Amino acid sequence: MTIQWFPGHMAKARRQIEEKLKLIDVVIELLDARIPLSSRNPMIDQILQQKPRVVILNKSDMADEQVTENWVAWFAEQELEAIPVDATSGKGVPRIVQASKEKMATKFAAMRKKGINPRPVRALIVGIPNVGKSTLINRMAGRNVAATGDRPGVTKAQQWIRVGQDMELLDTPGILWPKFEDQQVGYRLAATGAIKDEILHPEDVAFHTIKYIITYYGDMLLERYDLNELPADTENPSEVVDFMEMIGRRRGCLQSGGTINLEKTSQVILRDLRTLKLGRLSFETPTEHGSDVTIG
Ligand code: G4P
Repeated sequence: MTIQWFPGHMAKARRQIEEKLKLIDVVIELLDARIPLSSRNPMIDQILQQKPRVVILNKSDMADEQVTENWVAWFAEQELEAIPVDATSGKGVPRIVQASKEKMATKFAAMRKKGINPRPVRALIVGIPNVGKSTLINRMAGRNVAATGDRPGVTKAQQWIRVGQDMELLDTPGILWPKFEDQQVGYRLAATGAIKDEILHPEDVAFHTIKYIITYYGDMLLERYDLNELPADTENPSEVVDFMEMIGRRRGCLQSGGTINLEKTSQVILRDLRTLKLGRLSFETPTEHGSDVTIG
């Protein structure tokens, strides 16, 4: 699914979420555990206002476990609970339900005191395309309810899905646009599959991604591609390209004349990354990227 995020679409997406906010108690904000900052919508704090929220670090099965732990601590410092989740297996999902209920515990206890029986906690899942909203809705529902390929601007009657005894979830998620302003953010979004390969050139995406992986996870590259040495200076583009060519040679990405086909090499690298062949990697850390960011 490719959404063209023109200003009109952004305004509409925002309006649709603001409409849904009136119906719900808690927002479940989905982020990609590998890039928690780049996968946040740039206006999310303004859009959600003071609505109680739980942050989900989804696709945590693909992220560096230690870095995810550091992000959980970073969010806690900002007084937000961040829950590592793997929506495909369901890992972490019971905690989402529990945390959502906890958000409403005080209000519901007060209602009970007045003799009013509280209704189930109502929640909405929001996030940028491809972050796993439909997968999570289906997982929480225990069946296929969310239409994948759901688009902003396409209206359908929304329904409440029962999640256990005390929670209800809207079956249509809130879809928000990703960040556009910074090219590095764009490369991270593309590397993790949040924006489609037609938008940024695979060679550029692979180049910037490999550069990062060499620095933080070099051993994984050497092991995967059976190579002996990493480039000494990743700030020198030709060293990085030479390294990519070595990968291309190992993987048989040749073109006529026996030279390396860099585009094919880039596709191989990105496919390996997205199918976990390189191992679990994160592309943002609180130390490097979170120091001057506040949220909530
Ligand atoms: P969306 O509604 O937010 O747009 O995302 P959706 O649920 O459609 O999920 C996008 C892709 O991410 C799907 O892969 C889905 O299986 C995968 N995914 C979602 N949550 C997780 C998770 O926690 N861990 C992992 N490993 N994958 C997850 P797909 O169908 O193969 O789509 P694509 O790769 O062709 O985009």
